Amino acid sequence: MLHIKSSEPSSILFSSPSKIEKILTFAAMEIVVSGIRSTGNLHLGNYYGAIQNFVKMQHEYNCFFFIADLHSLTTHPTPASLHTNVKSVLIEYLAAGIDPEKATIYVQSDVPEIAELYLYLNMNAYLGELEKSASFKDKVRLNKDNVNAGLLTYPVLMAADILIHKATKVPVGKDQEQHLEMARNFGNRFNFLYKSDYFPEPYAFSNSQNLVKIPGLDGKGKMGKSEGVNNAVYLSDTPEDIRKKVKKAVTDSIPDIDSNGTRPISDAIQNLFDLMKAVSSSEMLSYYQHQYQEGTIRYGDLKGQLAEDMIIATAPIRDRINAIAADTDYLRKVAQMGAQKARESASKTIKDVREIIGFRSF
Ligand code: TRP
Repeated sequence: MLHIKSSEPSSILFSSPSKIEKILTFAAMEIVVSGIRSTGNLHLGNYYGAIQNFVKMQHEYNCFFFIADLHSLTTHPTPASLHTNVKSVLIEYLAAGIDPEKATIYVQSDVPEIAELYLYLNMNAYLGELEKSASFKDKVRLNKDNVNAGLLTYPVLMAADILIHKATKVPVGKDQEQHLEMARNFGNRFNFLYKSDYFPEPYAFSNSQNLVKIPGLDGKGKMGKSEGVNNAVYLSDTPEDIRKKVKKAVTDSIPDIDSNGTRPISDAIQNLFDLMKAVSSSEMLSYYQHQYQEGTIRYGDLKGQLAEDMIIATAPIRDRINAIAADTDYLRKVAQMGAQKARESASKTIKDVREIIGFRSF
């Protein structure tokens, strides 16, 4: 019972926002979880497709953003490359604007409760459903000689990542929809098995107005690390790297105007325009689109402009990457603080889950 002495100024009661109010607001906020696998440097696709969204969401939700290093083990990194990759994603998260005071930023392997929940969820994940996952089938096709159980149960670990914080919103791209459906299934199955309503349902979340498509430079699909070094522009690339890569971007000959009076556009050229949409001004984009329709476009000029605009768009991040990378103390503090905050939330869940499953102490 809280006793307020009448001599105390009433303004204390209504001073806004008090620490308690802040804590209550935070507790009522929806929980967001997302992660990026630490398998290399982050590229423009990661930035415009995911991280830019994370930076916005950290002001509105209780956000957990992590570096998925356990997931990266499916491809057997060496100890040295494992650490380097975790470090570069941490640096790049911070450089891109994720604020460790607002969001919880942590390394997945620093939170052993995730691995424990993964173990429990694995007991109710069935071979048939895991084998049906599109990402598993893709990986089997691409890596016939390394079809390990970690690949098969990747969606279970991802479900553990999300359920460990009882998150409801997961900012991810379209390609992760199926994994989220599986996370909902695993959570619901747990609830059903133990006649509880412990886990809420997580859903993919995208701020659709500002979801931009970021294609690669190879004239094909989306920007990615596995499509060769020249396909992706990295946040850590130097201006010279960017100019070289964009210069090599795939283009096409200019086709004739069709019967509707418009000039058809190939995927390769559309990709360059899509990239411009992300980094250039709308005037610049219209200028080159107009030139294309006129048939007077020079791809060398288009690529030169695109490269310069990419360099300008990424300059602040590049500068911060270099500054943060040099500050080992800061990185250590951020990782420790994140691990502590993430474990606070995760250990609460694990305690409940152990209780629900029926582990009791003597
Ligand atoms: N599977 C995601 C990807 O490849 C990465 C990931 C792992 C993730 N665990 C997650 C994303 C949990 C969101 C939430 O992009």
